[in-house]
Amino acid sequence: MTIRSVIKGSGSALPKRAVANAEMAQMVDTTDEWIVERTGIRNRHIAGEGETTATLAIEASRKALEAAGIDGADVGLIVLATATPDQTFPATATQVQHALGCNGGIAFDVAAVCSGFLYALSVADSMLKTGMAKTALVIGAETFSRILDWEDRTTCVLFGDGAGAVVLQAQDVDESDPNAPGIIATRLHADGKHNELLYVDGGPSTTGTVGKLRMRGKEVFRHAVTNLSDVLREVLADTGIQAADIDWVVPHQANARILDATARKLGLPEEKVIVTVDRHANTSAASVPLAYDTAVRDGRIKPGDLVMFEAMGGGFTWGASLARV
Ligand code: COA
Repeated sequence: MTIRSVIKGSGSALPKRAVANAEMAQMVDTTDEWIVERTGIRNRHIAGEGETTATLAIEASRKALEAAGIDGADVGLIVLATATPDQTFPATATQVQHALGCNGGIAFDVAAVCSGFLYALSVADSMLKTGMAKTALVIGAETFSRILDWEDRTTCVLFGDGAGAVVLQAQDVDESDPNAPGIIATRLHADGKHNELLYVDGGPSTTGTVGKLRMRGKEVFRHAVTNLSDVLREVLADTGIQAADIDWVVPHQANARILDATARKLGLPEEKVIVTVDRHANTSAASVPLAYDTAVRDGRIKPGDLVMFEAMGGGFTWGASLARV
């Protein structure tokens, strides 16, 4: 027997206001056709007054706990991935902890931008395996609308706000059983030399301001397809599992063309790739758990399925994780 972190439930949350491409075209020089053709995005949700990274994270977490049938008081660890915390400090995770009544355990934020959920999942998985906690909430939550340059059409049309969460629980499983549930393997990477391709031009220690997102999209695109295909192959090699055995790929939702290109490189049929970028745009660290929860709730992902999570983001950071859910 060995300890694995098992996903017990998921939840997600979106701001009330949905903004379709036609509305974006009233703000910047763009068209619905351009955005759909280049990215697959048709809609995004934008946080309004009173909606923040913390409020979205709390709503998603409550739904995840409800789905898992677990009480907030039983959560001993919260790892929240975000690049848009409510405050520079304390960590947004502590606000979630307080709201859910799970005070006294461990709570902190992880910053790996769009790969944040993969990093958070891996950190929580490691901590559960070493006995630091028994039950964890892993959250990706963002309000990227607050760091967008709303006059830059090359970036502002691409992002949205939202949150997703999963409840992880340490469980004894028989690893020789191919159907044993839990996270089977994870690989994470970072390469700091590409900072200038995707970054925010501010911060507490430099400008003293929050700053705005800047991106050289074409170059990011090229790196994303290569890095994601490589890391997916690494996880498959680590586990000896074939791409054909995967039931679902839940990718970071940045651009439909990146999803297509990555799936093609691995020979994965597009029906196995969960796509929500059309509805939510790129929600950074929230995108993987938001897409996962969407597919669980619409009945595509079922208990026992083999699911590959993958993401790539600013830094660059990237990673993939294979789990039987
Ligand atoms: N509406 C209309 N035209 C736009 C536009 C918009 N919103 N944004 C850019 N354009 C224009 C450009 O100015 C350019 O015009 P030009 O040829 O006259 O200079 C033209 O469209 C093509 O721009 P380009 O940047 O070459 O387009 P692209 O095919 O590379 O698509 C992205 C741009 C951003 C959609 C694409 O590169 C992308 O998705 N990259 C990855 C981004 C990403 O995933 N980032 C997050 C990773 S976590």
